[in-house]
Amino acid sequence: MAKQKVFVLVGGISKDSLNQQLFGFVQDAAGDRMAFDRFDIAALPHFSQDIENDPPAVVRNLQQRVQESDAALFITPEYNRSFPGVLKNAIDWGSRPHGTNVWSGKPGAVMGASPGGMATFGAQNALRQVLAHLGIAVMAQPQFYLDAGKNVTDGKLSEESKKYLAKFLDAFGAWVSKVR
Ligand code: FNR
Repeated sequence: MAKQKVFVLVGGISKDSLNQQLFGFVQDAAGDRMAFDRFDIAALPHFSQDIENDPPAVVRNLQQRVQESDAALFITPEYNRSFPGVLKNAIDWGSRPHGTNVWSGKPGAVMGASPGGMATFGAQNALRQVLAHLGIAVMAQPQFYLDAGKNVTDGKLSEESKKYLAKFLDAFGAWVSKVR
């Protein structure tokens, strides 16, 4: 079976980002059944309607890579009970100009990591609302919340989280096939 091409946005852009680390765990767990295309959201300009009709090359690159993908995966930190503005900026670029929303109809999934507490529930919940509006068919279950304080030690994912991640990726692969 052909590999599923999954476009990836990671909402954490710091060099030691837990969410970039989570993306590494996802790549390890997926093996060769998915080909991931992670886009560097830090390279994008702030969205402005002044430039949406003639955006810089980096924006066209984002839009083209989304269009070429089979699915989209969003890996988000939680900032003040929502997802980071830098991630929203990237999503907004994909949605414009009006009538050219590249997200529409894509199967998608959401996941996230935080150092503890509620492990990105607020961020994922807010993100799901935006993605639904854009016509992304977001997988409802299972959901993946990584409490990194408990489940990441010396850069390694706990066995329990590894099992759950495998289950999540199996379900995502099946979801992508079903929606497409
Ligand atoms: C946070 N953090 C945080 N954590 C959380 O679980 N709920 C929250 O509402 C917030 N709010 C918040 C706001 C801002 C502005 C920052 C910078 C941080 C902590 C956050 O989970 C932690 O810094 C993560 O490590 C960020 O993800 P990355 O960048 O490591 O992937």
